[in-house]
Amino acid sequence: MKFFIDTANLDQIKEANDLGILDGVTTNPSLMAKEGIKGEEAVTKHYKTICEMVNGDISAEVVATDFDGIIAEGKKLAAIHKNIIVKVPMIKEGVKAMHWFTANGIATNCTLCFSAGQAILAAKVGAKYISPFIGRIDDSGWDGMQLIAQIAQIYEVQGYETQILAASIRNPNHIIRAAELGAHVVTSPLESILGLLKHPLTDIGLAKFLEDAKKWQ
Ligand code: G3P
Repeated sequence: MKFFIDTANLDQIKEANDLGILDGVTTNPSLMAKEGIKGEEAVTKHYKTICEMVNGDISAEVVATDFDGIIAEGKKLAAIHKNIIVKVPMIKEGVKAMHWFTANGIATNCTLCFSAGQAILAAKVGAKYISPFIGRIDDSGWDGMQLIAQIAQIYEVQGYETQILAASIRNPNHIIRAAELGAHVVTSPLESILGLLKHPLTDIGLAKFLEDAKKWQ
């Protein structure tokens, strides 16, 4: 399973990349706004910096919601760097646009997926990734992991090549469950990635080893 980080924060991207586990980055308009990036020039520069930091797929999201606007914006984003993946919302115009991008050799990540039906449509139009939003489904009282399992089964049975990118991750257990269920990629905040490191018995064991090491060093 590939590990992406879900942030536009350069320090956090560097920290995850330095661990040697990072395969890519996902951003969205909210994450870009959080970094205070404003204007086309600054946005382009920021995406370019991320692409130069991480050797992997970097999702950059369109904000247009009409076909022509999505295509124009997506083309510009794709021209920034060869690793840019154009992130497109799961709406009717988005589906049409993803079909166009696939036909024109531009890879897409279909975002805001909350149902298996949406995942089928994304696969039909050749999206490289489908992003089911696990945490937001859990927040609304449903089970995000059930959706991952359902999409994984459908894609397997149908032989779809679209990769399941589990998004809206809230905790380390989401990452583990997504791995169990066959997600191809998980995109997480740094905190959830670092959470995988933690176990109290590791801390207790290390403290004891270090204490005993003083006896013979
Ligand atoms: O990048 C899309 C997704 O991961 C958003 O997560 O935490 O805003 O639900 P969240």
